[in-house]
Amino acid sequence: MSRLGALGQWSYYALWFLRTKVGARTPLVNTMIINYECNLRCKHCSIVAHSDDLPGPHSMSFDLAVREMKRNFDSGARILFFEGGEPTLWHDGGKTLKDLIEAGRRIGYFVIGYTTNGTRDIVEDSDVISISLDGPEDIHDEIRGKGAFKALVENLDRTNHPNVFANMVVTKMNKDHVRETVEIAARNKKIKGIMLNFLTPPPYEIALDHAEKEAVVRLATSLKRQGYPILNTNRALRNLLEEDWSEECPYWASAFVMPDGSEFFGCPLRSTESCKACGFNAVREYRLIVDGNIETITQMSGRFALSTKR
Ligand SMILES: C[S@@+](CC[C@H](N)C(=O)[O-])C[C@H]1O[C@@H](n2cnc3c(N)ncnc32)[C@H](O)[C@@H]1O
Ligand code: SF4
Repeated sequence: MSRLGALGQWSYYALWFLRTKVGARTPLVNTMIINYECNLRCKHCSIVAHSDDLPGPHSMSFDLAVREMKRNFDSGARILFFEGGEPTLWHDGGKTLKDLIEAGRRIGYFVIGYTTNGTRDIVEDSDVISISLDGPEDIHDEIRGKGAFKALVENLDRTNHPNVFANMVVTKMNKDHVRETVEIAARNKKIKGIMLNFLTPPPYEIALDHAEKEAVVRLATSLKRQGYPILNTNRALRNLLEEDWSEECPYWASAFVMPDGSEFFGCPLRSTESCKACGFNAVREYRLIVDGNIETITQMSGRFALSTKR
């Protein structure tokens, strides 16, 4: 548990929320892209497909990571998320993702999480783990590469982490398998819920058109009503149908640091064509939190805002 305890953490969030009402624009989340390296080449992934063209080092040094964690903590962030590339591949000398998580905890972050393709050993030390699940075995493997599904399931079998959730990116490649994917997540005792996202292009060829997105949102809303553990709030699902979310996006709620230390106040895609077509569910939830939406605040805080570690 964070040094502050649950009440202290809640008070901090309440104060942050109130400050946004008088115009404060400080990040609550620090998203750190610690590497571009990955053991997979997923068909929908824009990061790894273009990693050869990305400037600067492709892996953040430990010292730089600690400096950026401190800097964004001092700016107000209390939720820390490690992204990649594949974060479980990250290392600097003998230091691994485990050391980054420990450093984040020492600095005082309330909640620390990371996303992973789940094909490597799960690093247990974080409060939250987001694993990518893009379909039943044949579809997941068609998108992510042969054997990716089996490795994910085997690694999930081995973990006892209490707060693992799945992240699905719906594209033309898996749009007809959303129900099956949600059922797989619901059946797997290690997965506590699934969040649905649409692709943020590129690649444009596999992005859904509006009618296809509407069908997915209708299905997801119905599955949620039947009790399936879909983590998107109902309102965020509807907001995923807004074609251009760029004006609504409270991008400032999350700082973004890239492997070379370049910092974005908000998302690196801001003001690009990709930003207009953003399919990321979390930014819909951020907007609803900033707007004081009770459904979102209660559903999201239980899973993503309070430390599960003691
Ligand atoms: C970039 S990956 C990094 C973490 C890890 N390698 C993984 O696959 O989970 C983080 C999440 O972004 C998703 N993602 C990748 N490319 C995307 C795109 N073009 N649009 C939306 N989500 C994407 C992945 O499916 C994954 O769930
Ligand atoms: S595993 Fe993650 S980072 Fe690697 S290619 Fe797939 S989506 Fe991209």
